[in-house]
Amino acid sequence: MPLDHSQLQLNKQLTIPLARQLYQQLHQQIVSGNLSYAERLPSSRELAEQLQLSRGVVVECYEMLRLDHLVLGFGKGGTQICYQPYLAKPLASKASTKLGLSAQGRLIATARDYMGLRTPLLLQTSLPDLRLFPKRAWLKVQCEALEQLQGQYERSGGVSPLKLALKEFLARYRGIQVQDLNCLLISTGTQGALSALARALLNPNDVTVVEHPGWEGGKAALRQAQAHLVSVDLDQEGALVPTIKAKLAVITPNAQFPTGYVMSAARRKAWLEYSIQHNCWLIEDDFAAEYSYQQHPAPSLLSYPQAQHVIHLGTMSKLLLPDLRLSWMVVPASIADELRKILNTLGLQPSYLLQHQLALFMQYGYLAKHLAQTRSIYNQRRQWCTTYLQQHGADILEVMPSLSGMNTYLKLKESLHTENLEFRLKQAGFGCEIYRLIAKEKMTTYLLLGHAKLSEEQLETVLGKFLNVLRN
Ligand SMILES: Cc1ncc(COP(=O)(O)O)c(C=O)c1O
Repeated sequence: MPLDHSQLQLNKQLTIPLARQLYQQLHQQIVSGNLSYAERLPSSRELAEQLQLSRGVVVECYEMLRLDHLVLGFGKGGTQICYQPYLAKPLASKASTKLGLSAQGRLIATARDYMGLRTPLLLQTSLPDLRLFPKRAWLKVQCEALEQLQGQYERSGGVSPLKLALKEFLARYRGIQVQDLNCLLISTGTQGALSALARALLNPNDVTVVEHPGWEGGKAALRQAQAHLVSVDLDQEGALVPTIKAKLAVITPNAQFPTGYVMSAARRKAWLEYSIQHNCWLIEDDFAAEYSYQQHPAPSLLSYPQAQHVIHLGTMSKLLLPDLRLSWMVVPASIADELRKILNTLGLQPSYLLQHQLALFMQYGYLAKHLAQTRSIYNQRRQWCTTYLQQHGADILEVMPSLSGMNTYLKLKESLHTENLEFRLKQAGFGCEIYRLIAKEKMTTYLLLGHAKLSEEQLETVLGKFLNVLRN
């Protein structure tokens, strides 16, 4: 059947080039047998006129068809179809069923509710101030980092200059002595590291302890590995040690999320003893411990002699930027080699260029300088935020005491009307988190506000608006 140009529909609004659109439609007609073998296509001039296109578009399209061996060009003799559909294997004509996710895929996709996590919101928690990021220093080390690239795949769980820089960082800031660099692995955020660890260490339904309240991202990483999650409550000393036997526990002893509490020395010891007694992996999520405003940040669990089953996780998301997607773990030597392979197989390694760049950034002292600056600024903002809320909101809330973190934790007074609070805050553009905790059959509402990202002037406006929403 000759080509019916009225069947061709080209849309100039699409980003797909016209030659490509025409090619796809003719291709389809030829392979489906609509345009038969030996049929002549109109000349490029003729078809261009019929479709009101420039002739170049049709010429380009015919050339693509020729390269696919679907047509032959005979110069002035025109363009002729040379494809014989009956020679090709017929496509299966079975009615197609809808393709979807596997059971495992569904489990991963539903491990966390991502609704409402898309746009940056006011007072969103645990976010650093992008304006303080040392852009000039970062760019300064970029060219040097490029020169260090090897142009090959890196399989050792992180590039060695970064491992060396982190080793020094961990000793200086977290009192951790990394004896063997094989035990230090670089990964894509705490999220990526925890997902890999959950897959590596848990069998389906293994009892896994998490803090309540706690970080939803971490719980999702455990759920996707079919962990059986059991929550433990907190008291003034930190997360309670479970009474049941667990295979793995994830805790935030140095800056509990969301409360910001620092775990007491006695409770740390109790957790370490528990992990040895029950052969339980103890994952220390150290995500913002550097922002502890005590004189000396609490020591990492890894610095205790009973730390045989401890895995330490740290991240650049709070120290520098969440956009980097770069974190590290310090793991026992017994599993280091296999974990390295797992990270490679799952593709959970950050870019090697980024790793080299960060290593140089640390070696030249830029990270230490940035940390000193942000610690002081975030602490000022924390104090400012506390004072403001105590002065202007004492009738409806109580600021919970905390010496760490990038967030402020509030307890709402019972007299405050908290119905629809989630909706009201969201409507007004706030991203603070709400926790409703039940103790002794009484429910108390807590709020977590991110104070680090905003200057004091901005905080004044935003907190004023926030108090208005609470009161309405
Ligand atoms: C408790 C906790 N750990 C870790 C992180 C950081 O995760 P990532 O390193 O994947 O950015 C967060 C982020 O807010 C968190 O709240």
